[in-house]
Amino acid sequence: MSSKVVIYPGTFDPITNGHISIISRALKIFDRLVIAILNNPQKLPLFSMEERIQMIREVLKEQRHVDVDSFNGLLVDYVIQKKTNVVIRGLRALSDFEYEFQMALMNRKLNREVQSIFLMTDYKWFYTSSTIIKEAASLGGDVSGLVPPIVCKKLKQKFGY
Ligand code: PNS
Repeated sequence: MSSKVVIYPGTFDPITNGHISIISRALKIFDRLVIAILNNPQKLPLFSMEERIQMIREVLKEQRHVDVDSFNGLLVDYVIQKKTNVVIRGLRALSDFEYEFQMALMNRKLNREVQSIFLMTDYKWFYTSSTIIKEAASLGGDVSGLVPPIVCKKLKQKFGY
């Protein structure tokens, strides 16, 4: 039987414990998972693509079933290029739903072969996002426990404390 690969796309600026929870749960359903980081300089990420990839590799070094990659252009084209047809995303609060629903429907319009599936986030990560974690960290807030220790360290370095 061929192994089933799922694509987990996002910005991952930086990876959080919420992402890691989705990844480990997705691996209970799929054989392999590809973390696909959108290369979008317009978003002005805090961490460069290289930094994001390096942090993810470090954090997930024990996970033999995860690959990290970057992509440009349409997600559905990337998915097909990876010879699969499934995208996974995590869902937190109700506020995520509208955005995710819109993206899933647009992706479906662009390519009906590509299926989007969603995992509800663990309640522990319900209120966290890369954006809010960066904001707290930029103001000197303690974000340990919300991101892996290496990410915590990199955030401190970025914000100079
Ligand atoms: O972590 P994010 O920022 O919520 O991830 C958003 C992402 C990367 C999944 C989304 O912006 C995306 O898939 N962009 C690729 C461009 C694309 O395919 N757009 C059309 C469908 S929305």
